[in-house]
Amino acid sequence: MPRADLRPLAPPPSECGSRPQYTQSTRIVGGNISKPGQFPWQVSLHFSSEHLCGGSIVTSRWILTAAHCVYGFADPFMWTVHVGLTEQQVHGAQSLPVEQIIYHARYRPKGLDYDIALMKLATALNFNGFVEPICLPNHGEEFEEGTMCWISGWGATESEGETSLALRSAMVPLLSTKTCNQPEVYQGLISSWMICAGYLEGGTDSCQGDSGGPLACEDSSVWKLVGATSWGIGCAMKNKPGVYTRITQSLSWIRQQMEREEALSSPTSDN
Ligand code: ARG
Repeated sequence: MPRADLRPLAPPPSECGSRPQYTQSTRIVGGNISKPGQFPWQVSLHFSSEHLCGGSIVTSRWILTAAHCVYGFADPFMWTVHVGLTEQQVHGAQSLPVEQIIYHARYRPKGLDYDIALMKLATALNFNGFVEPICLPNHGEEFEEGTMCWISGWGATESEGETSLALRSAMVPLLSTKTCNQPEVYQGLISSWMICAGYLEGGTDSCQGDSGGPLACEDSSVWKLVGATSWGIGCAMKNKPGVYTRITQSLSWIRQQMEREEALSSPTSDN
């Protein structure tokens, strides 16, 4: 009997972390305007119709953002999630209502740790190349100092500046906690819940309005969410890189929240 095809099966396409509508050719300080489809997991979170923070799509129902974006504003009816967007003021852009907002129970506005929150969308997103989820990293996955990653958002393009109408992005290297905790940098403020990224010489950074948005790293052509924009002193200043909530540290919290909600809401519904 002639054997059928002996070629190995192609690996299944990744269900997250790809950007099918982006072709390479064709408040972030020191960055560039992004192209449609370049950061399809990036969302803009509007509070009473105004851009307040960024966020990242992790599944068709869940957006990951920073706790400081929603703390004290946790009424889901005040928020809309804008997806597939590069310019802020486009008419007819897809915007979705929020069903629920969960922030880390240990987050305190005066502290810097546990700066993570999830928004559950009232309806599921359709992925179409301009709207795609980003992969979460694996448990215990290490991201080395010097790895080049991307930050993106509609935040200010200079300290104290206005939010940007265009989605901007910049490439920044990850910094080790050791480097970031040096006396002239953040002198021990960086905990295991944080990861720093940026340049000690300054010039390129996230800024106000970028919070909650992604620090994304490409790992053999799959994009992973390594951080969520959290804080910094000023923006793009010398020895004051951006500080991001470390996603590997938050994985069990993220999974717990999503699973608990999924179990509470109709267990028989489709995904
Ligand atoms: N907390 C800011 C926000 O709410 C983000 C600050 C990021 N700062 C920085 N220097 N990287 O938008």
